[in-house]
Amino acid sequence: MTTMGFIGSGKIGGTLARLAVAAGHDVVLSNSRDPHTLHDLVGELGPRARAATTEQAAAGGDVVVVSVPVRAYRQVPAGPLRGKVVIDTLNYDPARQGVVPEIEAAGIPPYELLQAHLPESYVVKAFSTVFFRHLATLGRPAGAPDRSCLPIAGDDPAAKRTVAALIDSLGYDTYDLGLLAESRSFAPGTPAQLAHLDPAGMFAAPGRPVAAARLVELLGEAR
Ligand SMILES: NC(=O)c1ccc[n+]([C@@H]2O[C@H](COP(=O)([O-])OP(=O)(O)OC[C@H]3O[C@@H](n4cnc5c(N)ncnc54)[C@H](OP(=O)(O)O)[C@@H]3O)[C@@H](O)[C@H]2O)c1
Repeated sequence: MTTMGFIGSGKIGGTLARLAVAAGHDVVLSNSRDPHTLHDLVGELGPRARAATTEQAAAGGDVVVVSVPVRAYRQVPAGPLRGKVVIDTLNYDPARQGVVPEIEAAGIPPYELLQAHLPESYVVKAFSTVFFRHLATLGRPAGAPDRSCLPIAGDDPAAKRTVAALIDSLGYDTYDLGLLAESRSFAPGTPAQLAHLDPAGMFAAPGRPVAAARLVELLGEAR
């Protein structure tokens, strides 16, 4: 079992924490405020969960999920994440989350931002393609015919194997796109990013399952 640290415990972080606890993992949650503000979520999750500062969550996780608005990426504590596997869920959405000058002016692509901030961590992009309500409902046991497949990308093969095994335990298959830069194939606005949306219900739960073959087709459309 893995201890998952969370920098950001909102819609995506909180959903992943629920899946993780249900799968038997421990979680260390943090947000931008005092840890006691996570009292309700920790109470709901039970003894496998605790609230902490961002530094403690970074230090305490074997794998650490960063799930904050992109504009807050500089506050992710780099020191305790040195040498660790970090899951990057971030999507750049300037209209709703604010403009990030490094992206707009300095030309740093959004998918490189967190890895550049955490040069000694092994960043794997994952979960950025799935709406949190769908993430909560589409998980299935290994081998289920309607199990969904999520794209991942990152520069370190061992880190991606770790993340794929973790995601498998949470109820999803993974498709490894290769280097972190390949995550542009599932960035906001691409067909793969919208894969789970039901054309009839859009963001309504439960969303639609996307098997590996369909995901590969959608990823191909972005290339
Ligand atoms: N929502 C989705 O379905 C979805 C799907 C895929 C990817 N994403 C991406 O995942 C990221 C998180 O999205 P979300 O919808 O989960 O956002 P959210 O519900 O607004 O949660 C954001 C979390 O980040 C925390 N946070 C903000 N600034 C922080 C800081 N400086 N240090 C530590 N924690 C900080 C917030 O804490 P406070 O409560 O203290 O502010 C909150 O716990 C975004 O980049 C988004 O684009 C979201």
